[in-house]
Amino acid sequence: MCGIIGYVGNGDGSDALDVLLSGLSGLEYRGYDSAGIALSNGELDVHKREGELSALESVLESADPVSGADAVGIGHTRWSTHGPPSDANAHPHTDADGRVAVVHNGIIENYQSLRSSLAEDGISFESDTDTEVVPHLIASYLEAGLEREGAFRRAVRQLEGSYAIAAVFEGSDTIYAARHESPLVLGIGDDGHYLASDVPAFIEHTDRVIYLEDGEFATLTPETVTVTDHDGTSVETSIETIEWDAEDAGKSGYDHYMLKEIHEQPSGIRECLRGRLSELTGRVTLDLLEGTDWDEPVTLVACGTSYHAALFGAALLRRWGINAQAILASQFHADQLPLTSSSLVLGVTQSGETADTLRALREAQRAGATTLALTNVVGSSAARECDHVCYIRAGPEISVAATKSFASQQVALTMVAALLSDHRSRELIESLRSIPDAIQQVLDTTQARTVAETYRDAESYFFIGRDLHYPVALEGALKMKEITYKHAEGFAAGELKHGPLALVGEQTPVFALVTGEGRAANKTIGNIKEVEARGVPIVAITDGRADVERYADHVLSVPDLEPIASSVVANVQLQLVAYWVANELGRSIDKPRHLAKSVTVE
Ligand code: F6R
Repeated sequence: MCGIIGYVGNGDGSDALDVLLSGLSGLEYRGYDSAGIALSNGELDVHKREGELSALESVLESADPVSGADAVGIGHTRWSTHGPPSDANAHPHTDADGRVAVVHNGIIENYQSLRSSLAEDGISFESDTDTEVVPHLIASYLEAGLEREGAFRRAVRQLEGSYAIAAVFEGSDTIYAARHESPLVLGIGDDGHYLASDVPAFIEHTDRVIYLEDGEFATLTPETVTVTDHDGTSVETSIETIEWDAEDAGKSGYDHYMLKEIHEQPSGIRECLRGRLSELTGRVTLDLLEGTDWDEPVTLVACGTSYHAALFGAALLRRWGINAQAILASQFHADQLPLTSSSLVLGVTQSGETADTLRALREAQRAGATTLALTNVVGSSAARECDHVCYIRAGPEISVAATKSFASQQVALTMVAALLSDHRSRELIESLRSIPDAIQQVLDTTQARTVAETYRDAESYFFIGRDLHYPVALEGALKMKEITYKHAEGFAAGELKHGPLALVGEQTPVFALVTGEGRAANKTIGNIKEVEARGVPIVAITDGRADVERYADHVLSVPDLEPIASSVVANVQLQLVAYWVANELGRSIDKPRHLAKSVTVE
């Protein structure tokens, strides 16, 4: 997830450089590994720097870039996917002669083959990014005699993967852009035209927008905005007016980052899956751990929400025949485990900076084990220090309470587990692909909000689930605790009767996760009955089973899915309940008291 901005001024408004910089600041939530701009006012002027936007701003202070109210420019703030944060990997990228500059958000899946054939033609590359192939391709078509627009279109048509791309050319006052599975919105202003990954980038200049659809191209000049399809045929567009103001903009109109991030789960999971599954063979094609042999058990180490994802991953590995254990990183001691040079230790960490997890991974490495980091942050300590890394590609998570990173961890761990156990199944792949739409269905209902309004004053909240729903029950309780400041507890459904049942009563709603038709579901229904018989309110997270709904006071529906997908989707209902209870209680949702996003002390 990166952010892009573009501006074509008509001479009547703000300086292009100011527009780009304030736009990038509105997009910094999408990534802050590096930032860069390209301006054209006749000549093409490119500046880029590793680090936060302020690093680029200091460079620009002494650079005197070509700008003005009639200049054209593009900008980029990066969340690394290919290559670590560095000046060279920062966007915009240019061709060798500096005729075209390109910014890109997304992942170009076929970049390696494009890069090889460009290299055969004698092109040398400055960066490790997938994006750099684009300006070189455009330049090759310019050289073959195509006009700028034709060269841009031809290059874009060769790309596979996801992209929101914008290009500016030397000696031109036009921005060419295209979109496929990465967001791109155009802004229609009085002082010129804008484009960006998201409205916050230009909301202070205009609230009139056109959302570009997949497969569409846009051409922005000072006077006109044209949208065309893949073949160049003009597309009819409608201009919408954005209702929210600049203050709400970073959250795209949501009241909190947490709610925004909950809604980003469908796109985050699509990114996580992109290019990693083969429908044809039913195999996961993650480029990981090739040629590595390891002894069992596989050990997963993590903290908090990531630990719940680790429990989910370990359960899946065991299901597919690999002995695996999840250990809280703070409880992990390498010298108490039979680690050898053939042991595999997997660190699950959104930030890649959690001290407990890093310590555990370092101890494992010292004991000779092979380490694998499953993380969201490219260039994080875990990513740098581990022998292997698998990125979950959830995009920056600002809210302290983890939401979208957990869903992406579940999905990435499913792929890692399938890879390690050589589990091949077309049904699994189909099921993983169905998750984003299924989550969207949950997001489109208001059930969780109603439940939250009903139980906002409860004394305590219990969550129960069995098998793959057990880590979700723990996660549901953790979310409730951290943002509502109320007592919540997650249990394996079978455990209530071994003690905690003594605590339940009218003021302790029990959230029961029960989906599918199998033995686990039937047993959980038995546990629900035990609770119901004691006059306790039941909220069932279920997929339409009449025998569950009969005992439930409220139902939070999930589509009928296989167990892995069902666990990922069911968790979204619990995230929403926690969010709406906290909202009812007026809590500081994005920054709960006493908590920090990245815990760098043991
Ligand atoms: C809870 C939460 C924390 C983190 C934990 C580990 O919402 O975010 O429990 O999961 O601090 O953080 P990472 O995954 O960055 O290692």
